[in-house]
Amino acid sequence: MNVSSRHDKPFVATSQPEFDGVDLQALASRLGTPLYAYSANAIRQRIDGLKTALDGLDATICYAVKANSNRAILQLMGEAGLGADIVSAGELRRALDAGIPAARIVFSGVGKTEDEIDTALAAGIARFNVESLDELHAIERVAAVRQVMANAAVRINPDVDALTHAKISTGRAENKFGVSIAEARRWFAERSQLKHVRLDGLHVHIGSQILDLDPFRLALHRVAAFWRELAAAGHPLASIDVGGGLGVRYRAGQDQPIDATDYVQVIREALAGFDGRLLLEPGRYLVAEAGILLTRVLRIKEGTERRFLVLDAAMNDLLRPSLYDAWHDIVPVSPEPRPTATYDVVGPVCETGDTFARGRALPECAPGDLLAIQGAGAYGMSMASTYNSRPLAAEVLLDGGRYAVVRRRQTFEEMVAGEQPAQDWQAP
Ligand code: LLP
Repeated sequence: MNVSSRHDKPFVATSQPEFDGVDLQALASRLGTPLYAYSANAIRQRIDGLKTALDGLDATICYAVKANSNRAILQLMGEAGLGADIVSAGELRRALDAGIPAARIVFSGVGKTEDEIDTALAAGIARFNVESLDELHAIERVAAVRQVMANAAVRINPDVDALTHAKISTGRAENKFGVSIAEARRWFAERSQLKHVRLDGLHVHIGSQILDLDPFRLALHRVAAFWRELAAAGHPLASIDVGGGLGVRYRAGQDQPIDATDYVQVIREALAGFDGRLLLEPGRYLVAEAGILLTRVLRIKEGTERRFLVLDAAMNDLLRPSLYDAWHDIVPVSPEPRPTATYDVVGPVCETGDTFARGRALPECAPGDLLAIQGAGAYGMSMASTYNSRPLAAEVLLDGGRYAVVRRRQTFEEMVAGEQPAQDWQAP
């Protein structure tokens, strides 16, 4: 009896034997799994597509470092002329080390410390996206000590529903991000009291993995109305930062991402007549679909109710499915057609939440099979941990048939470096 007659189900032929011209079986045999692989060409294509869409506008793309902060990725962004959107001193240092000029770096986030503000001022970053009055005063204080002028934009919370997962929605009034237009209005009215902060920009970022243009349009129209009001009141703006949030395709045949040209058209329409600089902070859009997580099947476990496909990757490597119930397509690397089977795809971590997919139809798998978890280039490795004492995975950059290891697999010693027995007891 051959395999096909045993299974009265369609064959699944979708597979990914190669990525950016690199044979994935050979790569995984050489470097081991779990392994993150990123396509340089796929990233360049996204950058070029967005740049083309922005043609004719005075716009700077500030890549959101948090999406994928590997140094090689940042270097690629820097070489393409991009700036960076950072949210910590660590990200600042990564961006600078990768060659992204400070003049193209913007600093967002609700919890900037005075030390971080000072470090950013010393580096000479372009602008702070300010999220509270307390932070505005902190920047004023730190810049006064340094005797410098800090450039600042108010992050507006436009109270718009981004129609995405609640945990990655940031533009509702109930969210911790930004300030209301009413509050921002007061900041500008009292702007002359700021001696070391040049408050001349607006910023808005309503959320992530947005697949609908309407929330962007609504948020930008609210920001645009405020910009016009400010201009009329004698507060011209140097820049408007439209944030990130462009969604990507995690589920083939289901997710319908927004086209970059359509997205930029919304910006063009909403901000028509604005003669300052536009800043964009895409993260996911540039890198998500340019990355896969290669993982091997450890075993198949027949549970009493479900069939489990146990992988050597886990929630510590890719947290998105556990944290947001996010869907990631999973495909075999080998191209032979196989009958379909249904699995709960899980990792070895001791949590029921360590599940990549439930009831997923996949080509029938056997121990040792290599799989590619797709759409893993953004918020994959950058959110990885060593939970369950699993060392961090390796990362590799692919470029037209070649590969370069851009993070070697963490060793046990590296994982525990810094820990020590409690011996030098001291009083604080
Ligand atoms: N700008 C700001 C101020 C942000 O907070 C973010 C993302 C971005 C830009 C970039 O957004 P993107 O273009 O990547 O959507 N871990 C979550 C995503 C969290 C996004 C946080 N902020 C996930 O895996 O879906």
